Amino acid sequence: MTNEIEPFRAIAISRLAHALKAEGRSVIHMEFGQPSTGAPPAAIEQAHRVLDADSMGYWESAPLKDRIVRLYQDRYSVAISPDRLLLTCGASPALVLALSSRFSPGDRIAMARPGYVAYRNTVKALRMIPVEIACGPEEHYQLTARALAVLDPAPAGVIIASPANPTGSVIALDEISAIVEVCRTRNIAIISDEIYHGLSYVGPQPTMLSCEPDVMVINSFSKYWSMAGWRLGWLLVPPDHVERARAYIGNLFLTPPSLSQHAGLVAMDQHDVLESHIEVYRTNRALMLEALPGLGLKSIAPPDGAFYIWADIGHLTDDSVGFCEALLRDTGVATAPGVDFDPVDGARFMRFSFAVSTPEIEEALRRMGPWFASRVRG
Ligand SMILES: Cc1ncc(COP(=O)(O)O)c(C=O)c1O
Repeated sequence: MTNEIEPFRAIAISRLAHALKAEGRSVIHMEFGQPSTGAPPAAIEQAHRVLDADSMGYWESAPLKDRIVRLYQDRYSVAISPDRLLLTCGASPALVLALSSRFSPGDRIAMARPGYVAYRNTVKALRMIPVEIACGPEEHYQLTARALAVLDPAPAGVIIASPANPTGSVIALDEISAIVEVCRTRNIAIISDEIYHGLSYVGPQPTMLSCEPDVMVINSFSKYWSMAGWRLGWLLVPPDHVERARAYIGNLFLTPPSLSQHAGLVAMDQHDVLESHIEVYRTNRALMLEALPGLGLKSIAPPDGAFYIWADIGHLTDDSVGFCEALLRDTGVATAPGVDFDPVDGARFMRFSFAVSTPEIEEALRRMGPWFASRVRG
């Protein structure tokens, strides 16, 4: 078995975008799923205050854990014990922790294709085997109970993400219950990546915990709380897995930055600021959905949540990396090539992140209009 993993190609696009900016070019960053808004101002003020007062040692903030417990109560009406929470440096280490502490090398882990690039690559890096299930428009770009029921042999685990990256699609409630049922019957352990919760345009999304108490849940301050660079998130594990997961986090990661924990606690109470971000995304989403068909992009995934649009560009190219690079060089609009998210069909897809300001979306659309028109194949 090989632990070769592919690069995250949007990072190369981003590097080029920053190089162009350094040359004085005007660049619009739509390549990463990264809010351009920064942390809520009150969280930043708190960070300034505690820098002078706290020795910033290794720390697991009990108040932050209690506040996360309250989030589960308020957002989902689910009661959890803070003992089940492990604070991490974002969702990425939470994923490593969940996979490494729960599964063994050689285990098969199912996931949707297209899906977040790090799922398959983290699984590979840990010497497990990604089992990618093609999910197109018929499946609403999401895993289904049916697909999991017929996988032979049954995988040891499955990673579910709703809303998903790169599509923004969500799984309907009855399908979530059906997935849980199949996983129970077939003994498939679930990792639910709920990083895009709070960012939904089709109503609140339930946590998988409300259907299945034994699920492992990942979340992070990188998206809804707009604190990607603060590196803060959590993993919620079943009660009988707490000791094992603690042994793993203690050896692999220790604690997230104290500064971020202080700031994150304050951010969790900044409802008005955070909701105002969603209003911007809602406007951006509407602008994109209105304009993209005019660019010839008529086949796009339903962006039910998150801040992405996954678009079929197969009528224009079969090299999404070259296409996104040319778009960036010619117009200054940075986007993500589909190959990051789909190693099979991704050369014919691209992803736009609309987590930027509305004037930036308007400008990006202005620049892309003539460019896309000029690319139409003869
Ligand atoms: C679905 C998904 N999970 C996890 C992550 C990693 O997030 P974090 O910044 O919390 O490590 C991302 C980042 O884009 C993501 O899209």
